[in-house]
Amino acid sequence: MTERSNSWLFRAFSWLKLDKCRISVHNARMSHAQRAQTSSNGCFVRAYAKINLTLDVLGRRSDGYHALATVMQTIDLHDTICLTATDDNEVQVICTQPELNNDENLAARAAQAVRQCLALTQGVRIELHKRIPMAAGLGGGSSNAAAVLLALQQWWRLPLSPADLLSVAASLGSDVPFFLTGGLALCEGRGERVTPLAPYWPTSMRWLLLLRPTISISTAAVFRDLPASDYTDGTHSRAVCTALRARRKPQPENLHNGLERSVLERYPAVAQAREALLQAGAPLVRLSGSGSTLFAPFSELACAIQVQHQLQAQGYEVDLSRAIYPDAGVCFF
Ligand code: C5P
Repeated sequence: MTERSNSWLFRAFSWLKLDKCRISVHNARMSHAQRAQTSSNGCFVRAYAKINLTLDVLGRRSDGYHALATVMQTIDLHDTICLTATDDNEVQVICTQPELNNDENLAARAAQAVRQCLALTQGVRIELHKRIPMAAGLGGGSSNAAAVLLALQQWWRLPLSPADLLSVAASLGSDVPFFLTGGLALCEGRGERVTPLAPYWPTSMRWLLLLRPTISISTAAVFRDLPASDYTDGTHSRAVCTALRARRKPQPENLHNGLERSVLERYPAVAQAREALLQAGAPLVRLSGSGSTLFAPFSELACAIQVQHQLQAQGYEVDLSRAIYPDAGVCFF
């Protein structure tokens, strides 16, 4: 970990833990234990998934995290979140996946973090329609957290600057800051240092098949078991950024995921699914994040559908998706 990111993280965390009234001090309108101003009964917001075009693991840091360079892109697969007021000053979460109905849900933690930062008392009910598979390398939980932050910021008219939002997001998870803006971005540090890239998506990747083997993979376990021989120096991510900035298609060998070799070795179901995609005619298959989702890009819809149908006939769950540049999209009612 660099000294710069070290001090940045330290500032972010110490701000969150020790200086809860910082924002109140800076903004005379806010005081402790108050209710934020709301203009409507609640809102809907979409939380989009991502794929990793590249993922260079640079090495292990002294805090246990890994230094990364990764190029991420949001895709049109999304969860839907509805936020409404409660009378009991609590944060409640109700999810279509019952195992996510708890305080550890990142959407609930995002709401708690905002309330604690600004010493707000009012409660919120978070209804979460899950479509993004869990523990699948698509960033579903992180995206939910970012969506809640953005929605509360607007709905409760919170005095959080973009830097404040970034700090809260980074405290919730390495991928959460990326989802505050989404689109195409290079993410560095442990993932929280986000450099947006001008929108460009190669036509050869216009359609994306997402195949999720029916296993969940723990990101922490994948990073923990990663041998140093799978570390790279960031060359792949740099090369892909250069190509995309020049509006060129990246070289397939640079669409590299440093976690993939180890995941394929440890999880035979993922290796089998990759083989099935290639056998069905996918020209390129990559793991997204720490898996278990594999993505295969296609230029033509007809080819993508043919492969999708072939794999569905073998019993695989395969979704058709595409790159997307989401707007803030908070819908009030
Ligand atoms: O940041 P987040 O909570 O999403 O990370 C989940 C786990 O993945 C971490 O606890 C850590 O074990 C691992 N991780 C890592 N290096 C990163 C990101 C995540 O080792 N850059």
